[in-house]
Amino acid sequence: PRKIIIDTDPGQDDAVAILLALGSPELDVLGITAVAGNVPLALTEKNARKICELAGRPETSVFAGCTRPLVRRLVTAEHIHGRTGLDGPDLPEPAMPLQEQHAVDFIVETLLAEDEKAVTLCTLGPLTNIAAALNRAPEIAPRIRELVLMGGGFFEGGNVTPAAEFNIHVDPHAAEIVFKAGIPLVVMPLDVTHKALTTARRVESFRALGTRVGIATAELLEFFERYDEEKYGSDGGPLHDPCVIAYLIRPDLFGGRFCNVAIETASELTMGMTVVDWWGVTGREKNAMVMRDVDSDGFFDLLTERLGRL
Ligand code: BDR
Ligand code: CA
Repeated sequence: PRKIIIDTDPGQDDAVAILLALGSPELDVLGITAVAGNVPLALTEKNARKICELAGRPETSVFAGCTRPLVRRLVTAEHIHGRTGLDGPDLPEPAMPLQEQHAVDFIVETLLAEDEKAVTLCTLGPLTNIAAALNRAPEIAPRIRELVLMGGGFFEGGNVTPAAEFNIHVDPHAAEIVFKAGIPLVVMPLDVTHKALTTARRVESFRALGTRVGIATAELLEFFERYDEEKYGSDGGPLHDPCVIAYLIRPDLFGGRFCNVAIETASELTMGMTVVDWWGVTGREKNAMVMRDVDSDGFFDLLTERLGRL
């Protein structure tokens, strides 16, 4: 199986992404590293452990990482994810331990210990932990097989400011380091994730699994989707982060273009904007496979089938 590290700030959609990874035999989750984002770190690391226990995988290693972005102060998203970050189901306090090692040390040491190009990084939150690892040990960059990230938005615009998506906006300086590191990048922006909506029928098919995981997933998504439904009248909520994991299993579900992406870190108006050179007008070196399309029925079929295995 493909070795991955999941860097995350759970978050209901992060939680579903973690469940998808743990339910997929093609993937070997070496560790889950938590970062501050949707809610502060003390909650994201605990939420990651709650989800591993829900999946019946308490032996998974969970590490706590950075408590705040590299430069800017932390912006959180309780208005979407609730006070705990994982509002919705009633999940027990985790009994499994948090690893003592810092997430950034785990990322660096794992990439140095494993074979070159053996480890894929999957990032579902602000890129602070990854940038901190690259700052500490730049020699890890060429050892990373691929970094698949949820972040950004181009034709679709932003979801936290008119120009910026949450994960990039929270730590644009970290994103800039990652996008300039020469790592093979795959980007799942809002342009894709806003096509992966949790319609009532899809939520019901999770519940119909009849398992603890299926029912908890339905409850997570019902809480998560209310924001977009109430605010925008949309048909469900955008299931952002699981797109990252789904890509590793079924890349054929997604379509996009290899192009240059630069990150805005200067202008307060557009801070954290992903400037995607979709039409190749700049001559800047291509650095990322940027996705724009998804087969959303295929994506939800995959999710339902994999969560059903847990
Ligand atoms: C991203 O922000 C978070 O709220 C979600 O978990 C997702 O990673 C979407 O902009
Ligand atoms: Ca997230």
